[in-house]
Amino acid sequence: MAKNIILIGFMGVGKGRTARALADRTRRYTVDTDDLIETMVKMKIRTIFAEHGEPYFRELEQRTADWLRKNVSNTIVSTGGGFFQVNNISKLGKIVYLHSSVEGILEAIMAHPKAEKKIKKRPLLQDLDQARALFKQRLPLYRKVSDIEISVEGRTIEDVADELQKRIKKL
Ligand code: S3P
Repeated sequence: MAKNIILIGFMGVGKGRTARALADRTRRYTVDTDDLIETMVKMKIRTIFAEHGEPYFRELEQRTADWLRKNVSNTIVSTGGGFFQVNNISKLGKIVYLHSSVEGILEAIMAHPKAEKKIKKRPLLQDLDQARALFKQRLPLYRKVSDIEISVEGRTIEDVADELQKRIKKL
């Protein structure tokens, strides 16, 4: 198993879009952990947090990680911003951290035509100061678990995916 590429990074940094662009270039499948969770429990992330709380959501992330480890290979996996905290994430594949400053991320979300929807669906983005604090706390942890770090700030998805395609070949 494994040989997957796991994209990690803060909310709104572009993990899903980058995963799709990379999957396209490398002719691999792509899956997203939040999508898998929503399908598994037939609830939106926002509802899971509101009705069952964050600890339950983290349990679902762990279940998803265990399932991926046993069943998925050769796939580009995009993840929720806190997924990197599951046990033994490195067993799932090579870990790529997509980096941008938190202000860069927040500005990009605010400037998006669907900004309201993007914020509404993310329970941990309701309070921007709390989001900034969360980023600060997570930054060293993202860096610690990753095999590759790539800066995405001010770059197009295509440009990032091109660089990633080259770099994962060397892993
Ligand atoms: C979370 C990020 C979200 C989602 C959930 C929790 C986090 O995914 O998994 O709201 O803990 O950072 P995105 O990174 O796709 O927004």
